[in-house]
Amino acid sequence: MLKRTQRLNEIDDSLIGKTVIINGWVDRMRNLGGIVFLWIRDRYGLVQVVFDPQKPVYEYVKNLSNEYVVAVKGIVRERPKEAKNPNLESGNVEILAEELEILAESKTPPIYTNREEGNEEARLKYRYLDLRRSALQHNLIFRHRVAHLTREYMNSKDFLEIETPYLTKSTPEGARDFLVPSRLKKGSFYALPQSPQIFKQLLMISGFDRYYQIVRCFRDEDLRADRQPEFTQLDLEMSFADQSDVLEIVNGLVKKLYEKFIGIDLGEIPIMSYSEAMEKFGSDKPDLRFEMELQDLTNETFAHEMKFLTPSKGEALKSIRILRSETFSRKVLDSYANSAKSEGLRFGWVKNSNGDLSGSIAKIFKSAGVNLDLKNGEMMITCAGKRSSVNKFLGSVRLDAAKRLNLVDESSVKALWVVDFPMFEWNEEEKRYQAQHHPFTMPYVEDLDKYSSDPSKMRAHSYDLVINGWEMGSGSVRIHTKKLQEKIFKLIGISEKEAKARFGFFLEAFEYGAPPHAGFAMGFDRLIATMLGLSSLRDVIAFPKTTSGTDLMSDTPSKVSETQLEELGIKSEVDE
Ligand code: AMO
Repeated sequence: MLKRTQRLNEIDDSLIGKTVIINGWVDRMRNLGGIVFLWIRDRYGLVQVVFDPQKPVYEYVKNLSNEYVVAVKGIVRERPKEAKNPNLESGNVEILAEELEILAESKTPPIYTNREEGNEEARLKYRYLDLRRSALQHNLIFRHRVAHLTREYMNSKDFLEIETPYLTKSTPEGARDFLVPSRLKKGSFYALPQSPQIFKQLLMISGFDRYYQIVRCFRDEDLRADRQPEFTQLDLEMSFADQSDVLEIVNGLVKKLYEKFIGIDLGEIPIMSYSEAMEKFGSDKPDLRFEMELQDLTNETFAHEMKFLTPSKGEALKSIRILRSETFSRKVLDSYANSAKSEGLRFGWVKNSNGDLSGSIAKIFKSAGVNLDLKNGEMMITCAGKRSSVNKFLGSVRLDAAKRLNLVDESSVKALWVVDFPMFEWNEEEKRYQAQHHPFTMPYVEDLDKYSSDPSKMRAHSYDLVINGWEMGSGSVRIHTKKLQEKIFKLIGISEKEAKARFGFFLEAFEYGAPPHAGFAMGFDRLIATMLGLSSLRDVIAFPKTTSGTDLMSDTPSKVSETQLEELGIKSEVDE
């Protein structure tokens, strides 16, 4: 085999006149009146190779086709001036072929490997070919570099990378578990970890002090562009530490990554309470790349003159201003009205058209004598009802309006911390409270008594990192005493017996000297996608699943043999 002397990014002016051997794939071929030009591609670059009809090697070029793997020996030469290609790193030079060796043939590929075209299903089925595309190669190489610097940073802060098991017991993140049947203990199952939560806390109890891991997590949940059934976290935990210590470490990391790889200084990353985020932006992951804050009109003097919009006791009356109303057709406003109604909210809109107020609630404002101070073309969307529903609804209007008005500057990056989430949320199906983050999260202890009649008001020492409206990661200070832990289990209706069955070993560990500790987990796939400005996690994972959880390439999940099922002590459906 003609073994390569150079990678393709190394072919440049310094090699002019020298003989080199390159290895790679035929990216494309052109025949220009006898002379054949090949573009050869490897992970590092693209180079043009010229086959001259006068040379004996020309004989062999006609056997080639796209995606053949070849070795070419030839002389590097400067391209004629008019043939220089500034878009190609090696565009100043080309290789005049002397020898050609075909290392592997290729059938005509079922998808394009040099452009993003064709249906996504085919591209996922032939993922190994799709991964030849330079965009995907770039994304995965980028991911590797970010992981590398992440490890370097964590190591420099004395964090130890420690692996935790994948065959484990159910963890408390609240999604469904993927189960693995045990052959040796028939009828029993391992659960794949939804996160290393329990293990990292145990490592703190063991005294490791600072732990991290770039680790796969598994969750059987409904999938979307920002969710994969197996995904990666940068998981970390710290002892003798509180929220500010965790934020400092994570801030240092994301600032470093953005500076090094994107050339952006994130500046001071602001901290906002959950309740402020909900009140101002109607979201616990506000996109701060644009403003459009919600306005609270509940306490305005005119609020009681708002006819059907008048808030009754405990309700909220809020609005959002839209600076350019022209893109909001009646159809759009009707769809807003419908979704408000389906949330049990009262809804109206008003706009200034050439100095006059018009819209479904113009009359109400006029008769109440309110000066809305709307400029020509400005619009206000208003709704009344349960405060949390009003916030959520206007939060979604805010996002939709920003999209319609093109308000998002895609090149900007806005990060923030949202802190003090509610400790509990109501589970309507099970008619009980459940931990909003997970049940090992430290509550504001003073809230436990203060709001004992309304646990939904209790706050947690928990925090989310949000970038550009995406939840990038989340964490909390942990409970480290058995007594408090038991109290929380009680509040969420986990009986002593259930707690013992699910987390007994974990609770026991807290009886042997558990240090105060706190931690965090960053969605690593999400971070990479956000840094690259991509909206789908599939573009940053080598072998991703579809939204129905399948791997189209290997046709997984798939049926297994009767023998396998028998060995595992599982009856197949056919038998039943
Ligand atoms: P949490 O469940 O919030 O916290 O997960 C942390 C982060 O992981 C990412 N993430 C996902 N990414 C892709 N696909 C998914 N299906 C998916 N689910 C979650 C998100 C999320 O913010 N053990 C706690 C952390 C802690 O308390 O330390 C945990 O796992 O970016």
